[in-house]
Amino acid sequence: MNSIHPVVIASANGNRFRNGGDLTCVEKAFAEIIAGADVLDALIAGVNLNELDPEETSVGYGSLPNEEGVLQLDASVMHGPAKRAGAVAALEGVRTPSLVAKAVMEKTPHHLLVGRGAQAFARAQDFEIEDDLNSKNSREIWQEWKRRVALAGDLDGEARAAASHRVMQELVAEGLIDPQHIYGTINCNGINARGEICGVTTTSGTAWKMPGRAGDSPIFGAGLYVDGEVGAAGSTGRGESNLFSVSSFLIVENMRRGMHPKDAALEAARRVQQNTVEPRLLNARGLPNFGLNFYALNVRGEFAGVSMYPGAHYAVCTENGAETLLCEPLLDGRPED
Ligand code: GLY
Repeated sequence: MNSIHPVVIASANGNRFRNGGDLTCVEKAFAEIIAGADVLDALIAGVNLNELDPEETSVGYGSLPNEEGVLQLDASVMHGPAKRAGAVAALEGVRTPSLVAKAVMEKTPHHLLVGRGAQAFARAQDFEIEDDLNSKNSREIWQEWKRRVALAGDLDGEARAAASHRVMQELVAEGLIDPQHIYGTINCNGINARGEICGVTTTSGTAWKMPGRAGDSPIFGAGLYVDGEVGAAGSTGRGESNLFSVSSFLIVENMRRGMHPKDAALEAARRVQQNTVEPRLLNARGLPNFGLNFYALNVRGEFAGVSMYPGAHYAVCTENGAETLLCEPLLDGRPED
């Protein structure tokens, strides 16, 4: 294979948070790839910055908890050349679920551990287990969400979900939460000069989700898919919609058939749109009322960020440095209109 220009791509939060240091996720991962690190180790070192940064309320420590105030974290890793993969779902008490996912890949004959079993495995692997991963900020925002939902009365099912959604929109409008952090997640994919390609996705899932809810991030083919001969793809945004369409697998398969990463990801976004027929998921125009973003990279080092609607960004680091770029949208307008 000809020499490839190394590149790291990620969701936009991959070029925003530094956890008090100098580098963002994509800068850190790129620097480690150039220094000769294994590509997956480099990407995980990058996303660890987001997982550990309390300012980043969508991933790892200090992110928005479930409806009971508990952080349940999901993560997956895929190693292209080794054709190995590991994941955890609903893991409590560990700040860096991406590292536990890597340990699942390396130390077990399995691909996915969940809940208490995932935590027992992490403990046995000497990860620090904490009683509570909330920061002061994430706990206070959860308490405010809970207080406002309680004011709506003793609701359940669809009515409670609607009340929760309305309160979420209020908190966004008041600037108390970043709209990107409602489904906030980081996906990061990279390739080195030898064409070795890997990916990682890590998240706290939807803010104030039902306990036990796992989204797309820990599911191979949905929140992340890597084929060492073809490329890598991952996603952020409404996990249920991505999970239903297993979009990351579809993007990689589209690239296998020769599509550029941008066209491969736009085709996946179109599939999600076609699969979105439930009235509760449609806006007044009959289009999806949620955001969903894809990040795709092929083994030639070509890449793209694609979103359902205009305005979403993605992060890239090459030999020219890190940039935050606009995603290519599938649809016009805004999800809520
Ligand atoms: N895409 C992240 C989630 O929905 O959990």
